[in-house]
Amino acid sequence: MNMTSACNYQCPYCFVGLENLKAARDELVLEDKLRVIREAKECGLRVVSMPGRGEPMADRNFWTVLEETERLGLWVVVYTNGCLLDSAQIKQLKDSPVSLFLKVDSFDPDIYEQMVGKQGVFERLRRNLDVLLEHFHEPKIDGDRIITRLGINSVVTAQTAESIPTIHRWCQNHGIYYTCRSPVKVGEAAITWDMLVQDQAERLRAIGQQYTARNFTSSTELGQCGIYLFGITVDNNGEVLVCPDAHSDFGRIGNVKKSSLRELIRRRNEKFPLNSASGYCFVKTHMNSEEKTERE
Ligand SMILES: C[S@@+](CC[C@H](N)C(=O)[O-])C[C@H]1O[C@@H](n2cnc3c(N)ncnc32)[C@H](O)[C@@H]1O
Ligand code: SF4
Repeated sequence: MNMTSACNYQCPYCFVGLENLKAARDELVLEDKLRVIREAKECGLRVVSMPGRGEPMADRNFWTVLEETERLGLWVVVYTNGCLLDSAQIKQLKDSPVSLFLKVDSFDPDIYEQMVGKQGVFERLRRNLDVLLEHFHEPKIDGDRIITRLGINSVVTAQTAESIPTIHRWCQNHGIYYTCRSPVKVGEAAITWDMLVQDQAERLRAIGQQYTARNFTSSTELGQCGIYLFGITVDNNGEVLVCPDAHSDFGRIGNVKKSSLRELIRRRNEKFPLNSASGYCFVKTHMNSEEKTERE
């Protein structure tokens, strides 16, 4: 479920495009969001993922939606820039059925702030990471696996490439799940591509693969994209999508304001046959030409 498209950051690669980072006029209201979640539960939903067409925590309904998911016995995965959180909220989240996936592109304040397009925010992010470690993060060892509710993801660009090994090591030392990947050429990244990639597409992709076993934030243990394969995306305006990042350039499925979710799931499955290959990304395959040749 994509929450609001508003965001407090201006990342130069953002899927959404900087000019779209504001609340859409046709955004689902709270009642719609709750209805969709209840309907999805009836269709077998177990996990609500909030990948964010924008910053989920900037959605004024965020905490109310969270209460309802908890009441329904659902788990929620929130993708967040982590900057709007405060200590009290982190402590509250600890007792809620929630996992957090924070975006951190660098521990170097200058690079971090360049990559979020905002000055003076790194310190708050750094403090929130410390509070998360102290009050939220309780990794459990299960054989050779670490089960954790805290993840970090990075976008590998020419600016952040040197920062990736440090973030990776830090996550390893703290039992935090880590993924990173090179940019997908959509939204703002389609405009800033030359600056982000600088003819290093191959190198950035290799770094993405070197530092993470699963190259998706949403990856299953078999390396498939869990959201694409097992999920259905409801955008912030109610449009149903193949995946959270498959917006305007892909065929329309329908809108939860007009059709039942069950019917929309049926249409999605009919219109877009699923590819379960490991590493397959619906949007990357269609938008990044170098991925196309390799994956198709
Ligand atoms: C669109 S953001 C929304 C959630 C939250 N605002 C955040 O930044 O984490 C979700 C994730 O998408 C990733 N992302 C955004 N634009 C991207 C792009 N063009 N290519 C690859 N990943 C991208 C970022 O790593 C971010 O963590
Ligand atoms: S990537 Fe996330 S934090 Fe950055 S501008 Fe986009 S929605 Fe905001």
